[in-house]
Amino acid sequence: MATEIMKVDWVPTMETGIAAVDQDHRDLVGMINRLDDMLEARAELAGIGAVIDDLVAFAEHHFRREEEMLLRAGYPDAAGHGASHAGFSHRLGAMLAGCMIDPGPESIGRLHAHLQAWLVEHILTEDMRYVSFLRDAPPPP
Ligand SMILES: [Fe+2]
Ligand SMILES: [Fe+2]
Repeated sequence: MATEIMKVDWVPTMETGIAAVDQDHRDLVGMINRLDDMLEARAELAGIGAVIDDLVAFAEHHFRREEEMLLRAGYPDAAGHGASHAGFSHRLGAMLAGCMIDPGPESIGRLHAHLQAWLVEHILTEDMRYVSFLRDAPPPP
C-alpha cells in the first residue's frame, strides 16, 4: 500500500523573518506539495523524477545559503547545522538510489513523506534555533 501523504500548510511559526531564507523555505514547501499533486494524479515517473531532481538541487542550494550565512555570522553551532543538512542529503541519496532500483509509487511516496517530515521538523526546530542569534548578530563588516 502506498504511503499516505498530505500537503504541507505554511504556518506563521515557520517564518524565520529572514527574507531569503523564508523564500527558500516557501519554494521548498511548494515543490514538495507539487510532488504530492503529481503522486496523487499518478503522473508519469519521468515528470516526477524531474521534480525530485529540482527539489534536491534547490535543497542543496538552500543548505549552502544557510551554512554560509551561519559561518559569516559566527553562529556557534554552524558545524552542527551543516552536519544536519549533510545527514539529510546522505539519507536522501540512499532513498533516491532505492527509487531507481524499485521505481514506483511506494518508493517515491516514502521519499516524499521523508522529505516533507524532515523539512518541516528542521525548519521548526534547528532553523529556528539560529534565528534569534542572527537577529542579534552585528551586521557583517
Ligand atoms: Fe532552512
Ligand atoms: Fe537548515
